[in-house]
Order: sequence, then structure tokens, then C-alpha cells
Amino acid sequence: MSKFDRSIKIAPSILSADFANFGKECEAIEAQGCDWVHVDVMDGHFVPNITFGPQTCAAIRPHVKTVMDVHLMIAPVDPYIEAFAKAGADVITAHVEAGPHLDRTLQAIRAAGAKAGVALNPATPAESIEYVLDRIDLICVMTVNPGFGGQSFIQAMVPKVRRLREMIGDRPIHIEIDGGVTPETAPLVAAAGADVLVAGSAVFKGGSVSNPQVYGTNIKAIRDAAIAAMRAKAA
Ligand code: DX5
Ligand code: ZN
Repeated sequence: MSKFDRSIKIAPSILSADFANFGKECEAIEAQGCDWVHVDVMDGHFVPNITFGPQTCAAIRPHVKTVMDVHLMIAPVDPYIEAFAKAGADVITAHVEAGPHLDRTLQAIRAAGAKAGVALNPATPAESIEYVLDRIDLICVMTVNPGFGGQSFIQAMVPKVRRLREMIGDRPIHIEIDGGVTPETAPLVAAAGADVLVAGSAVFKGGSVSNPQVYGTNIKAIRDAAIAAMRAKAA
């Protein structure tokens, strides 16, 4: 991963891609200007949907030149950290709600050689991570209940983002937003302090590997809206 910065980064979620064509889909979104690739792992237990595991991440890895951002919606999480690190994840994000020993989980992620992310479900308060801030590289604020793409953004998460931005101070911690990000909602979270915007349906809608320019147009629309909001706030 390149040096830490707070510029806006667009991370398309391949949950909305063609599952029979992940390699080409990753190459297409990168060619169309995305910054990271967001990979949603679901176990049908922590969340009510199943996607795939470390073998699929390893298969995707050679097709991702940017950052492979792996979001684990699984419980338990600790027994699988090593496997996702070996699969080539740059960032591994575990949920606060996924187990009783978050501090241990975060230490295990860094020990495996990945950046450590922590995700908060909508009902989980910002304060739940107050005492682990020095162990994390990324906070993923869920702005939908995890499990499915295409849900509506939960507006009540905007003050949570603002609170987290205050809490992290000058620590090099990314704030990532996951769920319902569109050109309409991106400005709200960018102004509140987020820098990584995950978007599934809003990036992949209308496009395909044979019509990838649509991905580029969609990525640019989200990025432009977010940057405009940050500029307006700074002015
Ligand atoms: C939700 C996943 C998200 C999801 C976002 O459980 O973690 O990454 O794919 O999809 P959209 O952008 O469609 O809400
Ligand atoms: Zn996700």
C-alpha cells in the first residue's frame, strides 16, 4: 500500500460484479480509475448471506494491482486471519460484533502482515473502539446492515463518522464507508471525515466487462461529488 493520505479513495465492492468473471471485473474497475478493490466475505452465520472464502481471494489477487481490501463478515474470525493474509489481502477488516476479543483479533491481523481494519454495524457506537485505536489502520463504518448490496444509506451514521474522525485525531487511520454510497450520499460522509468510499451497486450498475466505460463514469461521479463536498467544507 502507498503512503497514508486522506484523499478520497473509491473502492468498488465486487459483491456487485459478475461472480463468474472476477479477474476481468477487477481489471476493468482498476482500468477505469478505482483506488482500491473491496472484497466482501460472508459466512451465512454472522450475516444472512454467503459469498466466498480465502481461495477466491487468492484467485483474485493477481488481477488486483491496487489495494485488496478484504471485509470479513464472518464469526468466528480469528481462525481464518492467516488464510486471508496468505491469500494476499492488504487490509483485513473484522467486525467489532464478531467476537469477544477484538484486541486479540486486531493484533493477529497485524501479526499476519496485513493492515488491520475494524468494522462497526449501524447499532454499534463509535466508543466501542475507543481503547483499540492504536491497533487499527482503518475503521469501516457500516451505513447499511451488512449482508447485501443495493440497500439504502442510513443517514444516522453521518454523526458517527464525525465522532470517529474526532476520536482518531492525527492517527493515520482511514475512515471507510460501506453501504448505500452514491453521488448523493458520498458528499455527506466525505464532509464528515471519511476518505475511503466503498460502492457496489453505484459503480457496477449499467456496466459490464464489455462495456467498462460505465464503471469509469460511475466512479468519477462518486469521486467528484465527494471532493466537491470536501472543498465546500474547507472554503
Ligand atoms: C454489505 C457489503 C458492502 C456492499 C455495498 O454487506 O459489505 O460492501 O457490497 O454495496 P452497495 O454499495 O450496493 O450498498
Ligand atoms: Zn463490505
